[in-house]
Amino acid sequence: MATADPTALDRWLDGHQRELLRELTSWLRIPSVSADPAHADDVRRSAEFLAAAARAAGFPRAEVWETGGHPAVFAERLEDPALSTVLVYAHHDVQPADPLEEWTTPPFDPVVADGELRARGAADDKQNALMHLEAVRAHLAVEGRLPLNLKLLVEGEEESGSPHFDTLLRDHRSELAADVAVISDTGMLGPEAPALTIGLRGMVYWEVRVAGPVRDLHSGLYGGAVANPVVGLAELLAGLHDADRRVAVPGFYDRVREPGPAERRALAAVPFDTEAFLSDAGVPAPAGEAGWTTYERRTVRPTLDICGIWGGYTGAGAKTIIPARCGAKLSARLVPDQDPGAIAELVRRHLLDRAPVGLTTEVDVLSTGRWVSAATDHPAVQAASRAVAQVWGRPPSLVREGGSIPPVASIADQLQVACVLFGVGLPDDRFHAPNERLRLEQLHRGVRATVRLWNELGAIPPGALRPTRAAEAVAGP
Ligand code: BES
Ligand code: MN
Ligand code: MN
Repeated sequence: MATADPTALDRWLDGHQRELLRELTSWLRIPSVSADPAHADDVRRSAEFLAAAARAAGFPRAEVWETGGHPAVFAERLEDPALSTVLVYAHHDVQPADPLEEWTTPPFDPVVADGELRARGAADDKQNALMHLEAVRAHLAVEGRLPLNLKLLVEGEEESGSPHFDTLLRDHRSELAADVAVISDTGMLGPEAPALTIGLRGMVYWEVRVAGPVRDLHSGLYGGAVANPVVGLAELLAGLHDADRRVAVPGFYDRVREPGPAERRALAAVPFDTEAFLSDAGVPAPAGEAGWTTYERRTVRPTLDICGIWGGYTGAGAKTIIPARCGAKLSARLVPDQDPGAIAELVRRHLLDRAPVGLTTEVDVLSTGRWVSAATDHPAVQAASRAVAQVWGRPPSLVREGGSIPPVASIADQLQVACVLFGVGLPDDRFHAPNERLRLEQLHRGVRATVRLWNELGAIPPGALRPTRAAEAVAGP
């Protein structure tokens, strides 16, 4: 069938930017923070808002799907059984907004200024989700139909580790059947440096607790004579890396796929702006595993980090005590072919084996997530490349990302589809941080690329999109 004329679609989109912004702003006013039980009603309101918006956009079926936790949204528009079916994934929950005092405008009171929209969830991930609704509206307004069959699955627990996502997929497997999946929860390298993501790191998250005396003790009366939990924990954590900033847990690197010279050349050719990356982070110099570039450290190398640490007296002035207890949160980012379950156990055992003497150490694994590595030669990745190139005027770089989206691995192997990672966030959009924002130009270009992506994918017969070999949608173990 003939695909929709992109210039007519663009004209329609240009005439409706204000409506899109109004809808996005209304959605961003709903604080859909999945981590905080106090916001459970807001996450639900966010799901209902999106389902209603999808219905209004032209999805005959759009509903809220219950899970054991926060609800997801499913929408479907089936045009013609002969056409390919695409499943779009995004999430409607957001990270907590704190520290509130660091926001220059309130996180859930969106402000448009200087070509950007500031709010929690603006970039991660509400812009990517609404980009798809807008593309549907444009196609239906101009052509009266979509060039393919479209299903939308927008999750409400991604920022909390997607604890009910696998069950959701299993319960709705036949309704979610598709020829290919488009994951819209990633970003690009810069406004003029378009990119498609072809890899995501996996992760593990731990909590460590060290307990000592039954109560805080006077550090003069007891100091030097009983084990101090904070000292013990500090020593334990300090031993996790060697002098080269390599993870000092034996076996940690055993299954890491070392990039060869060709891959390292390809990584060096990616237009990643290291200076901008470091200056946006506000750090004076790069740091990390010796022998690797900054870009390699955050893409193809695994990490082990301390995310938080607590214990003892941290209030004003001095309080001379030996603290009774303390703890820390640790996270790892994993690369092919590391096994998150095996790494979770390896590090847990390592910490317990080296637990400080005279104290009680406990380690819990809070969550794990699998890495993803997509085939760059899949026809859907090529289709997305063409769609992006038509809008940005140059083909996208194919990049590995440092972040994680654990549901992608589940979609790839439960639904047996290849995944294209297509999102428009920018490196300095302040994901998870105070003053998160999206750039309006990026959003509008993203919608233009999305309408073209539907044209491109719709022109490919279903059989050519389905994975023909296991390596096309590779999720970690
Ligand atoms: N959208 C992000 C991940 C991301 C950001 C991928 C930028 C690529 C580019 C996602 O919402 C996220 O924050 N994931 C969490 C995982 C999690 C289990 C909370 C992460 O990476 O920490
Ligand atoms: Mn996200
Ligand atoms: Mn996120």
